[in-house]
Amino acid sequence: MVRIRNAVQPLGRKARGIVRIAVIHGPNLNLLGTRETDKYGTISLSAINDMLEEIATEHSIELVFFQSNSEGELVTFIQDTGAQCDGLVINPAAYTHTSVALRDALLAVAKPTIEVHLTNPNAREPFRHRSLIADIVLGRVAGFGPQSYCLGLLGLVRHVQEER
Ligand code: DQA
Repeated sequence: MVRIRNAVQPLGRKARGIVRIAVIHGPNLNLLGTRETDKYGTISLSAINDMLEEIATEHSIELVFFQSNSEGELVTFIQDTGAQCDGLVINPAAYTHTSVALRDALLAVAKPTIEVHLTNPNAREPFRHRSLIADIVLGRVAGFGPQSYCLGLLGLVRHVQEER
């Protein structure tokens, strides 16, 4: 099991048949559990990762977790580690609405990617209605709280397995 990384580290050799997915969390998601609980609930980021890890164990998936508040670190992680994965699940948080750099990094690695959000940004303030990655991702899941991640992961893994 690979726990949350805050720096890019080399990945080990991937076992045959294993699907390796990067789960990427953007800024302020490290505060889940205490941050705006009326919108984001009380579950912590590490509890969300634990939920995903349970799914991973059932489906022969290796997960690589990463959270950063820094746009540049997220870009570097996508370039270095994302490129070595079969797919990406990403909640870019506020960078969803602003980051050309994240969009370009995702285009550069060209891996199947699922955009997830705990809330439904389209039901919130107008500046959250625009996603700079919506048109380049495989799929989007939003508004289901932590289940958005689970649904996104399951959909992505099915896709990767079907493409093999
Ligand atoms: C979010 C929605 C974004 O608009 C916001 O900036 C976040 C979290 C979500 O998961 O609902 O930080 O990505």
